[in-house]
Amino acid sequence: MLTTWLHRFDPERAHGLVVRGMGLGLALRQAGDHWPKLTSTLAGLKLPNPLGLSAGFDKNAEALPGLRKLGFGWIEIGTVTPKPQTGNPKPRIFRLAQDRAIINRLGFNNKGLEAATRRLARQVHQCGVVGANIGANRDSPDPASDYVTCLNGLYPYVQYFTINVSSPNTPGLRDLQGKERLSRLLETLMTRRGDLARSGGETKPLFLKIAPDLTAEDEADIADVALAQGLDGLIIANTTVDRPSDLVSSSKVESGGLSGRPIFARSTAQIARFYGLTGGRLPLVGVGGIDSGESAYAKIKAGASALQLYTGLVYGGPSLIPTILNELNSCLERDGYQHFIEAVGAGEKGANATESPELT
Ligand SMILES: Cc1cc2nc3c(=O)[nH]c(=O)nc-3n(C[C@H](O)[C@H](O)[C@H](O)COP(=O)(O)O)c2cc1C
Repeated sequence: MLTTWLHRFDPERAHGLVVRGMGLGLALRQAGDHWPKLTSTLAGLKLPNPLGLSAGFDKNAEALPGLRKLGFGWIEIGTVTPKPQTGNPKPRIFRLAQDRAIINRLGFNNKGLEAATRRLARQVHQCGVVGANIGANRDSPDPASDYVTCLNGLYPYVQYFTINVSSPNTPGLRDLQGKERLSRLLETLMTRRGDLARSGGETKPLFLKIAPDLTAEDEADIADVALAQGLDGLIIANTTVDRPSDLVSSSKVESGGLSGRPIFARSTAQIARFYGLTGGRLPLVGVGGIDSGESAYAKIKAGASALQLYTGLVYGGPSLIPTILNELNSCLERDGYQHFIEAVGAGEKGANATESPELT
């Protein structure tokens, strides 16, 4: 099996091989089943299904020819920073196989805005929703202006943007989640988006990707700012710097962001809290530890109206995508839903329940 073979290599080398192969379009088309219950619209984006590839897998928009065959409803490239940067010293990705998790401290290694723009420009007419996750260079004297630079450069080539203020591997980046700085950053970006839309004719959604390691006060502030600024959605969540006590793999001692199954419960609970804080008025994208239809369904019931994954793909391989979608479809049928959107924020109850939904 491909996944077993790849796991013989160091994680970063295995990833490089996959990206190169995908860039050549070397991926088996996964069963293209159509799931009418799963078609969706996220902030105006029409998605064939709600399950997307989250940022970090294809940082430089190099793998889209293959990724497009895997059955994802949408794909996020990046994180892209204005200037290329090499990131932290290697090794910097660690598999925690027994925990079905990964720790990474890549530090926004990427080939920079110009390279990403050039690649995307060549593929602009290909179908499918592709968005860009944007960030700041490690040595930037003015991180806020880095986001504006990326928004300007990539605006013609992607359908949406994710403002990444939550990577744990760029010192100081997470401080942008504080109320004052976040408010200023979002205001600047929303204004710039307005200018770009007026000159280009299209308003492209802006999402904010947050950390799972926030205090209750931070979360309330972020919900307020996001609603006040008219943001298009929140992506919940990035990797955690926390280490759950039940991790068993020896690599648990590595520093960096933890992803995969051990962060599932934490990020799902955070979705439920934000669903409550925003009263369901803001689209929430659930990401963190999705590796089955049931785990995808739990995020939807907590309040997510779209989903993303990364680590699940590393352990489950490409067949995981249609498997999750089939299982999710079965969960919805079992609980009597005509469409997944009816289950968003429904808590533990099915469509036939008479009581009001549990949100937390
Ligand atoms: C190796 C690796 C690199 C990542 N790089 C990024 C990144 O550049 N930008 C970002 O927003 N998230 C990045 N992430 C976080 C993922 O997009 C996702 O939010 C997180 O891994 C939780 O989802 P998962 O459990 O399905 O992997 C990365 C994750 C991994 C495992």
